[in-house]
Amino acid sequence: MKVLRVFLIMSLVMFQAYRVSAQVRVENLVCEYLTNPIGIDIASPRLSWKLVSEDYSVSQAAYEIKAALSVSELKSGKNLVWKSGKVESAQSVHVPYQGRPLASHQRVYWKVRVWDQNGRVSRWSNHAYWETGLLQAPDWKANWITMAEPKADSSLPSQYYRKEFSVAKSIKSARAYVSSLGLYQLHINGKKVGEHLFTPGFTSYKKRIQYQVYDVTTMLSDQNAIGAIVGDGWYRGYLGWKGGRSYYGDQLSLIAQLHIEYKDGTAQVINTDEDWKVSYGPILKSDIYNGEQYDARLEMPGWDQPGFDESSWKSAVKLDHSKEILVATNGLPVKAIEEIKPIEKIITPKGEVVFDLGQNIVGWARLKVSGKPGDQVTLKFAEVLDKEGNFFTKNLRAADATDIYTLKGGKEEVFEPHFTFHGFRYILVEGYPGTPALDDITGVVIHSDMAPTGNFSCSDSLINQLQSNIRWSQRDNFLDIPTDCPQRDERVGWTGDAQVFSMTATFNFGVAPFYTKWLKDLALDQQPDGEVPNVIPDMWDNHLGGTTAWGDAAVIVPWTIYQAYGDVGILEEQYASMKAWVDYMNNKSGDDFLWNQKRKHHWGDWLSFHSTNPGYSGAYTEKDLIATAYFNYSATILSKAAAVIGKKKDAEYYKQLADNVKKAFTKEYITPNGRMVSHTQTAYALGLSFDLIPDDLREESARYFAEDVESFKHLTTGFVGTPLLCKTLSDIDRDDLAFMLLNRKEYPGWLYPVTQGATTIWERWDAQRPDGTIIDGMNSFNHYAYGAIGEWLYSHVAGLQIDENAPGYKHILFGPHPGGGLTSAKVEFESIYGKIVSSWRIENGKINYEIVLPPNTSGSVDLPGVGTKQVLVKDRAGKVLNLNRYENLGSGKYVFSYDWD
Ligand code: BGC
Repeated sequence: MKVLRVFLIMSLVMFQAYRVSAQVRVENLVCEYLTNPIGIDIASPRLSWKLVSEDYSVSQAAYEIKAALSVSELKSGKNLVWKSGKVESAQSVHVPYQGRPLASHQRVYWKVRVWDQNGRVSRWSNHAYWETGLLQAPDWKANWITMAEPKADSSLPSQYYRKEFSVAKSIKSARAYVSSLGLYQLHINGKKVGEHLFTPGFTSYKKRIQYQVYDVTTMLSDQNAIGAIVGDGWYRGYLGWKGGRSYYGDQLSLIAQLHIEYKDGTAQVINTDEDWKVSYGPILKSDIYNGEQYDARLEMPGWDQPGFDESSWKSAVKLDHSKEILVATNGLPVKAIEEIKPIEKIITPKGEVVFDLGQNIVGWARLKVSGKPGDQVTLKFAEVLDKEGNFFTKNLRAADATDIYTLKGGKEEVFEPHFTFHGFRYILVEGYPGTPALDDITGVVIHSDMAPTGNFSCSDSLINQLQSNIRWSQRDNFLDIPTDCPQRDERVGWTGDAQVFSMTATFNFGVAPFYTKWLKDLALDQQPDGEVPNVIPDMWDNHLGGTTAWGDAAVIVPWTIYQAYGDVGILEEQYASMKAWVDYMNNKSGDDFLWNQKRKHHWGDWLSFHSTNPGYSGAYTEKDLIATAYFNYSATILSKAAAVIGKKKDAEYYKQLADNVKKAFTKEYITPNGRMVSHTQTAYALGLSFDLIPDDLREESARYFAEDVESFKHLTTGFVGTPLLCKTLSDIDRDDLAFMLLNRKEYPGWLYPVTQGATTIWERWDAQRPDGTIIDGMNSFNHYAYGAIGEWLYSHVAGLQIDENAPGYKHILFGPHPGGGLTSAKVEFESIYGKIVSSWRIENGKINYEIVLPPNTSGSVDLPGVGTKQVLVKDRAGKVLNLNRYENLGSGKYVFSYDWD
């Protein structure tokens, strides 16, 4: 009897254990947000994983990680480099590696298992890995090499480098570590290596240059040739709107180190040195703004293969350039992400042959053509057609954006440029031998390879198109750095644009590594007094800087990444830079705590609705008011950031500073009746959302704000006010007004461009007038700043909000705001913990609100308009759940329904 009982208990325990281990799984192992990255140069990279379970209220109580230098050691558990042991912790993201110190080019395999809230353990995950890069400068044995070239003050041809070598033994693994001054493409044995484009990326080149690591094990054979093409790019090409070039240097250069490990345990390293040969080739000119000129008659077939006759090539020469500044690439590589076929071939009134992709993209056009040697096809790129329907390029300003391909003749030829990109929807084709067909042109979309993480959709197709335009403008402007626009003679990392859009960006795509990379350059380019240049990387060495709402990117962007990804590391890493910016404002503003125009030039509410537009009265928000509001905001964030990373004294100091600024602001800019001295939507949005208005005046200010919106019946805001506008209206319980602004289809408003057929976000509210007139001068059709409305769509309309005290969606605030005539809205979002859903639908007098929380998170629900209504809550299977509160719900799916009137 006793034996039977023990047996029964034992089998029950085993059954339970089996059942639970089958339920909680550990998947999606990443290192520094990346899946199996190679070339990590962080000593303690952070590891994250996701729990997967169909059960409700699943959380992690403990974890255990093992790491080894080989799969077999990881399996056997022998010679592990790290054994965390069982760690009682709910932390499943950003767990720093704490094992044995690692050397250069080592691969670390790791796996993890977790204990759930009931103390039951999962199976071990599948293993993942990361590989270290070259961790110290002395590990770089290769030399910077270049081509002896005459100095020139305009574009020169791209350079081709090559070297042959043989391999006698059987290869275990081979890695290429490569970087350049200029842009490079690496080739081995006739093939381009890797999918990366625009390498080594754009950084503050004088202070750091990224290198890339490629696994080339399978590309090598007995006889080999390694080669690279190097072009001007951001380093030596034209950059900025002042017509200048070569801001970082006038000599292109390559550095490459190929490590071959043989199966017998020996190794060989091939380095760039004077043995390499160099030559010009078919790329006559390649410039980011101006485009590429390629003469296929000058091609050198076999240049990147063994056995090529290199007798006419010159020897490369060494270039004395620092190797200390080489850093691994821990951001997101640029790749060709998508191809788009033209929807139409147009003959314009002027007789131009124009292909329409139907979508404004960034990238280039692939051309298919056959003809005689010397035939020349010219491709030009434009975002819009003018009023008459002709090809319009005036808004590209000095950027030529022209690719010229000279045919070698014979069979069909295919051309794609190497080191240029264009922002365009329309392609003008000139000189094509014969008649180009739709199939002869393909739009190639290129940008940083960000994982799509979120989407917002609703019952209104125009708003869905707006969301599509926001996503596209993000894609088109996330090309290694966050650019203002992708088409004209600018395309630089304008800090203000990046700042206002950063939270929206985190909803659409996984952008943590992208901003992490850019913020390093921001910190490096910051001036000794803390001043933040207007564009990062700052090719002009602080030509312009210290501007309110632009410089604040130093504080706001790290805070945004911390909020969206729970990334404390970025606060630690950026803290000095954040603090320097706030100290800078503090020093400049002096005893009165007013940070204003007297002290520095400011852009203000850039491109706000303006009175010069006929038929409307204008709105102008004082720049001084904006500056002091932002001063308070950044000091407040800095104080919170200091608290997060345990700098208590700083936290208090900056809290006090923020309070002082708030007092100064109140005195200077708010009347005792709660009216702001700049009586504008932007001023009220800033005052209310930055909490600058004394509590007893909030109601009055809110009333003034609402009255202003009501009297204009449209927005009047620019880059500064727009991101805050609808959010603030929602916060003062005026969703009706927020939706009125959103739904407006005339200028100025978000849907006006949509009704005009826009496929991206415009820089100006009225970039193109209803009659087709295009505003002259600075006028981009692809500027994401106004797309910052996306944050409100996700967080308020659909209802997915971050809890500032449990960031990274560890605790999720669900708070939808139905309104504006919408009958449904939905967000699906892949957070660092897993997929979150927040989706509502109004049907037959009822609202159904569905939420999904991933394991290891919790959430609280604020049901809109619920009052004392009876709420029915169901689970995934439609079973009624007996919930009497909606706070701290555990993982799983819940559907709430109640009457809606
Ligand atoms: C850019 C911006 C930028 C602005 C600064 C423009 O030329 O395109 O978007 O923020 O200048 O005022």
